[in-house]
Amino acid sequence: MCGIMGYVGSRSAPRVLLDGLKRLEYRGYDSSGIALVLDRKLEIRKSEGRLENVEKLVQDDPKKLQKSTCGIGHTRWATHGKPTTQNAHPHQTGHVVLVHNGIIENYSEIKNDLMTRGHLPKSETDSELFGFLVLEAMEEGRDLVHAVRESFVKIRGQCSIVVMSEKEPGLVVGVRNGSPLVVALDPEGGTLFASDSQPLLPFTQDVIFLEHGDVAVATAQGLKILDLDTGNPVQREATHLEWSLEQIDKSGFPHYMLKEIHEQPGALIDTLNGLVDRNGPEPFTLAAQPGVDILKDAKELVLLACGTSWHAALLGKYWLESWAKIPVSVDLASEFRYRNPVIRPGTVVIGISQSGETADTLAVLRELRVKKIPCLGISNVRRSSISRDADAVFYTSAGPEIGVAATKTFVSQLLTLLLFAGYLARERKTRSTSELNRLFEDVVKLPHVIAEGLEPDSEMVRRIDATVNALTPKSTPMSGVRGFFFMGRGHSFPIALEGALKLKEIAYDHAEGYAAGELKHGPIAMLDSEMVVVVLAPKDSWREKTGSNLEEVKARGAKVIGVGDADDHQLSRLCDYWIPLPRESQKIDPDLLPFVLSPVVQLLSYRRAVLKGTDVDKPRNLAKSVTVE
Ligand code: M6R
Repeated sequence: MCGIMGYVGSRSAPRVLLDGLKRLEYRGYDSSGIALVLDRKLEIRKSEGRLENVEKLVQDDPKKLQKSTCGIGHTRWATHGKPTTQNAHPHQTGHVVLVHNGIIENYSEIKNDLMTRGHLPKSETDSELFGFLVLEAMEEGRDLVHAVRESFVKIRGQCSIVVMSEKEPGLVVGVRNGSPLVVALDPEGGTLFASDSQPLLPFTQDVIFLEHGDVAVATAQGLKILDLDTGNPVQREATHLEWSLEQIDKSGFPHYMLKEIHEQPGALIDTLNGLVDRNGPEPFTLAAQPGVDILKDAKELVLLACGTSWHAALLGKYWLESWAKIPVSVDLASEFRYRNPVIRPGTVVIGISQSGETADTLAVLRELRVKKIPCLGISNVRRSSISRDADAVFYTSAGPEIGVAATKTFVSQLLTLLLFAGYLARERKTRSTSELNRLFEDVVKLPHVIAEGLEPDSEMVRRIDATVNALTPKSTPMSGVRGFFFMGRGHSFPIALEGALKLKEIAYDHAEGYAAGELKHGPIAMLDSEMVVVVLAPKDSWREKTGSNLEEVKARGAKVIGVGDADDHQLSRLCDYWIPLPRESQKIDPDLLPFVLSPVVQLLSYRRAVLKGTDVDKPRNLAKSVTVE
């Protein structure tokens, strides 16, 4: 989950590294650092806390660090050892310095061996140990490239490492084995390394996604890629990126999260156009791609994911079962893996991960494929690791999502699952063509409905603002509210879970999501006037039952925020705060209402987080892609 940068060329290395690390902070941000080669010597500046601390160290430095044209950098999400300056990367061992992303699993073994040989690590990290291995190999006469290759085979676990040495200034060596590493040729000469393609976009749109077991050897003169085991050169094609620099900037929004919430209509349009053949003779014709046949032959589906992607999977189950009558089970990837599940013949497994890098989800897919179980992926990031671990991947087209809280990728995942449901319903003839035509027409309307709700002066947005303002007094934002419940039935239940996760994630409020019918089986004991209950009750077949549950909540004195149809006066009268859905949503099939509810729960959390003054885009303790189990 950490972010790595590397550069060698003719530009000012600290500038390149620090700008790049800023774009990688979503991967971890508890400490950071850079190592530069200056006058053939290593200069390291690192600090706990945010990247600004390192920027300041570099600015204030009398040594004119800006002159350096070769260096590596890192932004950390702590696994081994606390987020302190000591544990921050880069780690220097003698003349060797490195940055690392991932985990060295045989860390204790290596540490014990090193200590018996008289080495004393300075940090608590697994990463630092790699430097000792490289140092030992170089002291035995190996050059840096050989020493890195030899050391890499001694470690176990998925990781990427980038290394330099004072003995070979101007050489940067990076290895990918699991955790992503991308390289690119700088059009002005030189080579760039990064944990993902975003920091490379200001320089070039042509990048090389290293494969597992690739060693990239870079100097200001050029780049070679070698095979880790044999040392032989390997050819890797550059990929031309579709994402532009503008897409990764905030475009005037105060936070990426708000920008990304507003990008949801566009994300849906692009995802729809990417996955569906709009010229096809029938509704829900999936555009030809390898995964379609695997999906078509499925007799049963298992959906696996983590976090928000798991909530998308839960919703997918509703559509797939009710439209296509195909049995679906949904599991958390981290649980499924270790519980010896029974998988019947004909089952297709779908791993859902917006980043395509989530360790738990990838590990399950890898294991299942070994057992010859067909595996599909849904991801927003082309060429991410999931493309290796699944037989085929369906890509959402939400564009880069930089805020740690998933928003536009979530609705794009929902749309993908809904399209699968429509496609399978047609193939399995469980819905008539006219029904599917009508549903598809409504799907096409969705971006407009969401855009209507997101208009800055819409009733929905105004009521969300008013509600959060009332519950979050400026001077005492924590007063009077002990916690939040989100509740909903049917399609609204996964959105309730998602609403609670969003609020925890970015506003640090205690929040739980419940199926409305479950409240009386325990959680209702928590309710009193200091609890807020967000009731998701759009006009669907569950509306009446949810209304009754709302009455039960009110009777316990909790504050109620109701979210429902703009004309649902019966419901709005019962609520302390009322958030109407956009009027256009009355014209679409109720099965599609989760798409309209999603921006409501996202904005509620966003506004609350802003009022509480949290770091919305980089909430504490989290990282955007969770590449450790
Ligand atoms: O990249 P993935 O979709 O696999 O990520 C899974 C979760 O880590 C992710 O959804 C997480 O819960 C988000 N921060 C939620 O906003």
